[in-house]
Amino acid sequence: MDPKLGRMASSLLASLLLLEGAMFSPSSPPAGLLEKVFRYIDLHQNEFVQTLKEWVVVESDSVQPLPRLRQELFRMMALAADKLRCLGASVDSVDSGVQQLPNGQTLPIPPIILAELGSDPKKPTVCFYGHLDVQPARQEDGWLTDPYTLTEVDGKLYGRGATDNKGPVLAWINAVSTFRSLEEDLPVNIKFVIEGMEEAGSVGLEELVRKEKDRFFSRVDYIVISDNLWLSQRKPALTYGTRGNSYFTVEVKCRDQDFHSGTFGGILNEPMADLVALLGSLVDSSGHILIPGIYDQVAPVTEEERKMYKAIDLDLEEYRNSSQVKRFLFDTKEEILMHLWRYPSLSIHGIEGAFDEPGAKTVIPGQVTGKFSIRLVPHMNMSVVEKQVKQHLEYTFSKRNSSNQMAVSMTLGLQPWIANIKDNQYLAAKRAITTVFGTEPDMIRDGSTIPIARIFQDIIQKSVMMLPLGAVDDGEHSQNEKINRWNYIEGSKLFAAFFLEMAKLHY
Ligand SMILES: *[C@@H]1O[C@H](CO)[C@@H](O)[C@H](O)[C@H]1NC(C)=O
Ligand SMILES: *[C@@H]1O[C@H](CO)[C@@H](O)[C@H](O)[C@H]1NC(C)=O
Ligand SMILES: *[C@@H]1O[C@H](CO)[C@@H](O)[C@H](O)[C@H]1NC(C)=O
Ligand SMILES: [Zn+2]
Repeated sequence: MDPKLGRMASSLLASLLLLEGAMFSPSSPPAGLLEKVFRYIDLHQNEFVQTLKEWVVVESDSVQPLPRLRQELFRMMALAADKLRCLGASVDSVDSGVQQLPNGQTLPIPPIILAELGSDPKKPTVCFYGHLDVQPARQEDGWLTDPYTLTEVDGKLYGRGATDNKGPVLAWINAVSTFRSLEEDLPVNIKFVIEGMEEAGSVGLEELVRKEKDRFFSRVDYIVISDNLWLSQRKPALTYGTRGNSYFTVEVKCRDQDFHSGTFGGILNEPMADLVALLGSLVDSSGHILIPGIYDQVAPVTEEERKMYKAIDLDLEEYRNSSQVKRFLFDTKEEILMHLWRYPSLSIHGIEGAFDEPGAKTVIPGQVTGKFSIRLVPHMNMSVVEKQVKQHLEYTFSKRNSSNQMAVSMTLGLQPWIANIKDNQYLAAKRAITTVFGTEPDMIRDGSTIPIARIFQDIIQKSVMMLPLGAVDDGEHSQNEKINRWNYIEGSKLFAAFFLEMAKLHY
């Protein structure tokens, strides 16, 4: 520990002890560790906010491939590495090589931080994943404050990266540093994986996790990710699943060149007509996917699941209003959430080669490519889905007796992720949430695809949990991103309480 920081910590500790003495008469029972930790976090919340401010000021944008921003990213990772060293962690900043840009240039990839604190074989080892890069932000895009100056308005801390993901990473660090400052034993061994390329597709991360599987990750028991949001503004959540995605293209071709409808219209099987029929055969107007067999492997809904969906806090009217949609395909909260999270969906995205400019042009495209994707859920098998889609399109196409050629391919396949919510860390997190927030969490999933959870689960083969801290209206990736002071500070307490619950449950 930096000697100056050491002095600061001990003087803080002294003032805390004084305060405790003042607050408790001799006859009160000694405050428990948890109360002590919570009080410390409350008393030091302005310092925690100040550190977040120092992190938000770094323009660690990984999306725009500019050398200046890349330098900022390196600076950000160095700041985090220093912070972790001050906590007493052993820190390895792993060089991750270079990023190849489409224009042929290369940019250095910021190091991935692998850090660890404690290696007591009697304690569980919890590995925390987070990222410190951010999406681009410019005040001209509609920010009310400078995106890189953390600004507090009505308890909301506005700034790029405040909720995604600098705030949650610091909340974890705040929890650890509280035990350190109080000179209390950490209840768990902790490992950190912190990257700086998440918003650019986590370049180099999967490779590193594979490489470190039997070294850094060998003693990891649990993996925690805090990189998503609650479903509500006030009620905390635990996330136990995400959908996968398989992306398809279907090409219909007559010839390379386009035709004029005055000279060829009436004597051709038009590729666009074939494609529209093919795309039209995929899903009906109630959202039901028409590909035979596609629902066969979808996990049946259990009674326990029904109860979980019922307990979720979602104001459907507000959700509808804020989405600016007149009517959804379903009327109840349960049906809507289930169709977003635990049933597959098929979406049609676009047609390459189509005439899509304003005005009227009498072209017959000679070749068109339709694009659609299916969000996958447990226990759909991607190679089975691929086969079913191809068979269905081939059958539909053959019925048209078209002289054109059709080619279907699956261009991307990402597996869904689902966790066992009976696992110890889910139980510990539920207890910690109930202690800090006085309510059980919403048990939620995410309808989109977040590959990192599945990657950790597949490679390390340990329980993965998403434990979000941010509220639904935090606006990650958007203008005026924020984290509420309340979420940040109570979130720091939540992690501390989680460590204590983990230690109690682990055997
Ligand atoms: C939704 O919008 C309607 C019509 O604009 C309004 O009457 C209603 O109060 C809104 N409900 C919520 C929960 O915001
Ligand atoms: C998916 O299905 C294929 C073909 O039926 C099978 O070989 C494969 O083992 C299945 N994969 C999983 C993960 O079940
Ligand atoms: C399909 O088209 C061929 C000519 O390309 C024609 O001979 C045949 O009768 C058609 N079959 C059907 C079922 O329309
Ligand atoms: Zn994020």
